Amino acid sequence: MNRITLNVLVVDDEQGMTSGAERCLRRFIAKDENIKDEISFAVSTASSGKEALDFLEKNNVDIMLLDYKLPDMNGIEILEKVSDKKILTIVITAFASLDVAITATKKGAFDFLAKPFTPEELRNSVRKAATSIYSMRMLKILEEEKKSIRFEFISVLAHELKSPISAVEGYLKLIDERIKGNDVSAYDTMIKRSIERLNSMRKLIIDIIDLTKLESNRKVRNIERINLAQSVKSIIDGFENQAKERNIKIITDIKDVFINADAGDIEMLVSNMVSNGIKYNKDGGEVKIIVDSEGEFTKLIFSDTGIGIKQEDLDKLFKEFVRIKNEQTRTIEGSGLGLSIVKKIVDFYDGKINIESEFGKGTSFTLYLKSKPPCD
Ligand SMILES: Nc1ncnc2c1ncn2[C@@H]1O[C@H](COP(=O)(O)OP(=O)(O)OP(=O)(O)O)[C@@H](O)[C@H]1O
Ligand SMILES: [Mg+2]
Repeated sequence: MNRITLNVLVVDDEQGMTSGAERCLRRFIAKDENIKDEISFAVSTASSGKEALDFLEKNNVDIMLLDYKLPDMNGIEILEKVSDKKILTIVITAFASLDVAITATKKGAFDFLAKPFTPEELRNSVRKAATSIYSMRMLKILEEEKKSIRFEFISVLAHELKSPISAVEGYLKLIDERIKGNDVSAYDTMIKRSIERLNSMRKLIIDIIDLTKLESNRKVRNIERINLAQSVKSIIDGFENQAKERNIKIITDIKDVFINADAGDIEMLVSNMVSNGIKYNKDGGEVKIIVDSEGEFTKLIFSDTGIGIKQEDLDKLFKEFVRIKNEQTRTIEGSGLGLSIVKKIVDFYDGKINIESEFGKGTSFTLYLKSKPPCD
């Protein structure tokens, strides 16, 4: 919990009023269910309009308690003069006149207090102003954070796109210079490597498109009753060659489960999970896929006998571009977006993800999804 101090200026020509307000706010701590910090108040006073304006010129004021009737000018004139400043003004009136209230509100007054008022009424009004200032500040901090997350995302993305471009450009230059002579076959490795880098770049771009659609809620979904047994099996078939190349066995235990979902979501989710199970496995290892239901949830388990994940790395996995860097993952290609896509899909289906992993032995991801109401 932080201690925040807001500056209050009390403007009134009645000495009793300014000193009363000062006393009332001096030790006051504003608390509210929306305020997570402690707000206290530093009070200054002014006894005329001119004095108030001079003070405002030189000092930062958050809340102003302003008597409507001052000897040299009225409250409206002061409100007009400080309209460019971000001050919440509580107008104090000797008589509660509707006209004054309307004009002052138009000029930006935050609240009114009719004289005479109790210390409690004054504190309530100041608390309201403090809550409003606090919420505005929190919103600003949140927006700044969002902006910086966005910026970080774009910088990492730019970097991820730059490296395959540089690699392919490098190979093309070597080929252009005929560095290995005129026999085309001498360049096989370079060409194969370039194609691999371009493929992973294409996957990165597709991932970004998926992620952006999911994040902006602009993804057009067609919710329909899906036979998971069928769809999961056909998605797994697409990984057969990749698994065979590394002698990895795919084992399934798939029950006849139906879910109301978008087929594209299921495809993205299952293929990212199976892809990881193979990529982060050992040669000759196993990937097991279980489809079942548990209460109101559809349950999908993806376990592998792969490299495993250290306990301290588990929390980071679902953040964009996060790739665990160690000796085992050094040579494995990927953009670090797969699991963040999976997480967004699981969230859409009001689900959850459990992970169990033993470093060096293998990992098991359990995904729970709820059916969505079908579209008409
Ligand atoms: N089954 C797994 N076993 C061990 N580590 C894993 C497993 N799945 C994911 N990881 C770790 O989590 C990281 C993030 O995975 P994620 O799927 O988000 O990205 P990626 O596989 O690196 O790239 P992409 O899926 O976008 O091609 C991986 O880089 C890897 O370090
Ligand atoms: Mg992945």
